[in-house]
Amino acid sequence: MIPRVLSGIQPSGNLHIGNYLGALGNWVKMQHQFESIFCIVDLHAITVYQKPEELRTSIREMAGIFLAAGIDPKHSRIVVQSTVPAHSELAWLLTCVTPMGWLERMTQFKAKAAAQESVGDGLFQYPVLMAADILLYQANLVPVGEDQMQHVELARDIAQRFNSLYGETFVMPATKIAEVGARIMGLDDPTSKMSKSATGAGHRVGLLDPPEKIKKTIMKATTDSNSAVDFETMGPGVRNLLSIFQAFSGWTNEQMRQHFAGLRYGDLKKQVAEMTISHLEPMQTRYREITADPTYLDRILQEGADIVTPIANSTVELVKERMGIYTKAR
Ligand code: TYM
Repeated sequence: MIPRVLSGIQPSGNLHIGNYLGALGNWVKMQHQFESIFCIVDLHAITVYQKPEELRTSIREMAGIFLAAGIDPKHSRIVVQSTVPAHSELAWLLTCVTPMGWLERMTQFKAKAAAQESVGDGLFQYPVLMAADILLYQANLVPVGEDQMQHVELARDIAQRFNSLYGETFVMPATKIAEVGARIMGLDDPTSKMSKSATGAGHRVGLLDPPEKIKKTIMKATTDSNSAVDFETMGPGVRNLLSIFQAFSGWTNEQMRQHFAGLRYGDLKKQVAEMTISHLEPMQTRYREITADPTYLDRILQEGADIVTPIANSTVELVKERMGIYTKAR
């Protein structure tokens, strides 16, 4: 059997080069070696308040970006999470086998909760819904950025606990992390991860940012008190710029050293900007073509849901049966 890959992105705010280099770009590269399912996780997005109109727009934008980046709809399934109700159903069933202590340890929950005035229960349950996304399809591999490793680990713990309580049911999913680009940092502050929600103007490069804006953001990126690249003493800002270049170019460490050692920061930034633009510009052109026909996106999303729903439903049936939940006599 061909192994299955599953991953997801929240349709909240602007997709940025961190999402691309840590996740989406790798999905594109690996998709044909696997049976691939990529989710737009709208039910995760609403764990913090989203303006309904913006969320609606964002979901479609995300689907367009998946396709523009190179997700092949003839091979891979693009699924809006809420269109397959089994995600929510399995999440509840798994909630009942998940100790609260496990969720209290999640670093992302602690960070997000600290930033909210009122913390919804959904934010606390968020990793269980993510475990449901993964286990619903018996995924073998979950390609994510570094910040999601703890959540995938939790999905494994939940699967193990379920299997030991009710008998072998779930496949153990493995995490796949990019060698370079698994944690892209903010350009304005290289000590914090690049995120969709940070408000600083120079924080991120959005995948749909026009070339001029990309250049401006990268040219203003925070570096350190040196003036040229020194691989032994460089600070996190320079390391981040080099990671962005390396992840886009696929260069080896050796090539990076030979090319960049001693280069002045101004030139480094110029080259990082050019490399970034050369990848994003063609994607943006494809994005405009794809979204010119809104019914095309709907067709792809409908097809995705239609194909994965039977897989999802059969897992939920199996789980219910294992747990002793009411199922009809056969
Ligand atoms: P989300 O939407 O925050 O991010 C989507 C993907 O992008 C990666 N990522 C990064 N990679 C490198 N550098 C960064 N600065 C950076 N920021 C984000 C994330 O690690 C992720 O892979 N909970 C998930 C979505 C999710 C999911 C799933 C993922 C829901 N269900 C099932 C995998 C499997 C999230 O919020 O990702």
